[in-house]
Amino acid sequence: MKEKLQNIKNEAIQKLNASDSLTKLNDVRVAILGKKGELTTIMKSMKELLPEERPAFGQLINEVRAEIEQKLEEAKSALETKELELRLKNEVIDVTLPAQKNMVGHRHPNTIALEEVERIFIGMGYEVVEGPEVELDYYNFEALNIPANHPAKDEQDTFYINNDIVLRTQTSPVQVRVMEEGKLPIRVIAPGRVFRSDEVDATHSPSFHQIEGLVIDKYITFADLKGTLAEFVRELFGADTKVKFRPHHFPFTEPSAEVDMSCFKCGGKGCRFCKGSGWIEILGCGMVHPKVLKMSGIDPEEYSGFAFGVGLERIALLKYEIDDMRLLYENDSRFLKQF
Ligand code: DAH
Repeated sequence: MKEKLQNIKNEAIQKLNASDSLTKLNDVRVAILGKKGELTTIMKSMKELLPEERPAFGQLINEVRAEIEQKLEEAKSALETKELELRLKNEVIDVTLPAQKNMVGHRHPNTIALEEVERIFIGMGYEVVEGPEVELDYYNFEALNIPANHPAKDEQDTFYINNDIVLRTQTSPVQVRVMEEGKLPIRVIAPGRVFRSDEVDATHSPSFHQIEGLVIDKYITFADLKGTLAEFVRELFGADTKVKFRPHHFPFTEPSAEVDMSCFKCGGKGCRFCKGSGWIEILGCGMVHPKVLKMSGIDPEEYSGFAFGVGLERIALLKYEIDDMRLLYENDSRFLKQF
C-alpha cells in the first residue's frame, strides 16, 4: 500500500509537470484529489489495514496530499504567469505606428473676408444684422424706389416664387426692414446671400453674397460716407490705399457713386491686376433717397443717411488674389486650405 501511495505521488507530479494549461491542471486535480480521485480511494481502503498501522499510514497520506497540493499551487501560478505574459504579448500596442490624422475643418475665404469686414465696422460702432433670403418684392424693389416697371428691375432679374415673393437680388432690402423698426439712429451692416439669374462664369454666379451698410442720423452728409468708406478700404487693403468716388445711379440713393480703390498690387501705377488703370472697382454707395426714407417712416427733413453695398466674393477674390469665382463654390479642400 505504501508503494501504491508512492506511485500515485510520482504519477501526480509527472502529470502536473506535463500540464500545459489550467484546464489540464484541473483535470489532474480532480483525478487525484477529487471525491473519486485516486488519493481519496486509497484513503477509503485504509480499513483493510490493521488498526495499529492506520495512524502512521493516515499521516503519510496527508503528507502526500499536502505535497501534491503544493505542487498543484506552484504549477497553477506558473501557468497563470505564462498565460498573462502571452496575453500581454499578443495585445501589445505599437506606439511607433503613425497616428491617425484628424481632419480639422477650415474657414472658407468668404468667411474669413466677412469676419474681417465685420471686425472693421464693429470697430466703428456698427451692429451686424440679417434679413431674409426669400424676400417680398416690396422690400427688394418697391420700397427701394424701384417701381414695377422700372428698368433697374431688368438688371437684377431674379427667381420669382410668385408675383409678390422673390429670392432677394441684393441685401439692400435689409435697410428697409431696419428703418421700419423705427429705432434711430441706425448704424448697421447686413451681410448675406443674394440671387440673380446669371450664367456661371469667372466673375458671375446665380448666388453670391453682399454686405449692406446703412447709417441714418441727424446731420449725416456725404463727407461721413467718404470718410467711412476711405477708412474701411484702408483697414482692409492697407493704409496707403486711396479711394475714388465716381458718379453713378442707384434708384435708392441720391446722389449715388461707385467707389474705386487704388490697386494694392501696383499702388496705382497700372498693372495686369487692375487692367492697367491703377484702380479697382469695389462698391456702390450713396445718400439714402428722401423717398426711401419717407416710405420707411423716417422724416427726410429731420434725418439723413448713407448706404453702401459691397460684394463679399469680390473682396475675397481681391484680398486672396483668386482669379476665378467658381473656385469659391467647388468646396475643394486642397483649394480652401490655402487661406
Ligand atoms: N444693391 C446694390 C447692388 O446690388 C449695391 C448698392 C449700391 C447698395 C448703392 C447700396 C447703395 O446700399 O447705396 O448693385
